[in-house]
Amino acid sequence: MNTDRANAPVTGKHTVLFLPAGITVEVQAGTTLLAAARRAKVHLPVRCEGKMGCLMCKLQIVSDPPGVLPPAEGERRKLGASINGGTRLACQARVCGSVSAEVPEDPLKRAVRLQLERKPQEEDDFFGFNF
Ligand code: FES
Repeated sequence: MNTDRANAPVTGKHTVLFLPAGITVEVQAGTTLLAAARRAKVHLPVRCEGKMGCLMCKLQIVSDPPGVLPPAEGERRKLGASINGGTRLACQARVCGSVSAEVPEDPLKRAVRLQLERKPQEEDDFFGFNF
């Protein structure tokens, strides 16, 4: 970990872009991505309210540089190797620059979407249509 960056003063306002919705919000440096998401009215599922217990607030940092402070040891331990691929806990990641973060699709919505995408093909098969 770059200790110089970790100890650098965190100041100013920065823009956070939540994808794929394309919603942006401006927040003070040091704000967590969870607080930024709530301010932007971007839904992130949570159960533990930031205690690193539920791990439901995972998102993917896609900006480079990331625009968030490096993870503390506790977050590193919770996320394991996925943290190297840009996965962070929104309740722990604190803004220090412009951030772009990909919010994963809700698992239930994903299941419904996949079912709906699959349905026309199955209906075609059922009625013997072959387009
Ligand atoms: S809100 Fe539970 S781990 Fe982030």
